[in-house]
Amino acid sequence: MTVVRTDELVAQARRRRGAVAAVNIITLEHAEAVAQAAAATGTAVILQLSENAVRFHGGQLEPVSLAAAAIARHCDVPIALHLDHVTDEALLAQVAGSVFSSVMYDAGALPHEENVERTRRAAAFAHGAGLWVEAELGYVGGKADAPASAHAPGVRTDPDEAAAFVAATGVDALAVAVGSSHAMTSRTARLDDALIARLSEAVPVPLVLHGSSGVPDDELRRAVVAGIAKVNFGTGLNVAMTATIRGCLDADAALVDPRRYLAPARTAMADTVGALLQVLA
Ligand code: G3H
Ligand code: ZN
Repeated sequence: MTVVRTDELVAQARRRRGAVAAVNIITLEHAEAVAQAAAATGTAVILQLSENAVRFHGGQLEPVSLAAAAIARHCDVPIALHLDHVTDEALLAQVAGSVFSSVMYDAGALPHEENVERTRRAAAFAHGAGLWVEAELGYVGGKADAPASAHAPGVRTDPDEAAAFVAATGVDALAVAVGSSHAMTSRTARLDDALIARLSEAVPVPLVLHGSSGVPDDELRRAVVAGIAKVNFGTGLNVAMTATIRGCLDADAALVDPRRYLAPARTAMADTVGALLQVLA
């Protein structure tokens, strides 16, 4: 199957008033698990690689992204590739001519005016390279380098500000702060559906939910009905992977072959992604 474009999958999701899952990968097993779940459920999906994950791979974008693209190509359902949470302009420059059809440029932690100006410049550059661009307004808290104020309960994206931000920057999609938080390991987030609906009304581009691992199934379904079109999910895979590996190693102190714990860990991640895809179906 050919790798498809992110904008194509988001547009399809919007047409059916649904959302496409965008799943963060770190290792080869993450990418294989996502492709496995997509194939098993017959659901198109976005494979995302974050700037943090690129840093984990020694700052080398090409090896991990080419591996992800090969996995996508060998899958029987459409998969798109997205570069996520880019703050480094040198990394942004590498996305032109790469396997990615979209990028999230993340200046959401900067003062508002600076976020607008940097995002406008990044969007102009990325559009010139034929990419679909997502950006963020109103910090989605929980990232390691988040400013203290971003964690304050009640941080939300304002609909009027969001509309002005999209008009000023020319971005194609907007990540919004509506109650979710990055890297939650329990699914206890409560989303503001009324705000999502107001944002969806005010903003002409698709809305993106970040930090979806902390969001319970029924909250996710309601968020999609209210207007979320792309659901970013990452930590849930790591919870499944690590718990499985921990169980394998605890059960057998003599185990040394990584295949013996990575295979069940990959299956656990595929099950987690499969469950998410069913919720969004
Ligand atoms: O951009 C990535 C997502 O926001 C993932 O968030 O790891 O909390 O699910 P999560
Ligand atoms: Zn995110």
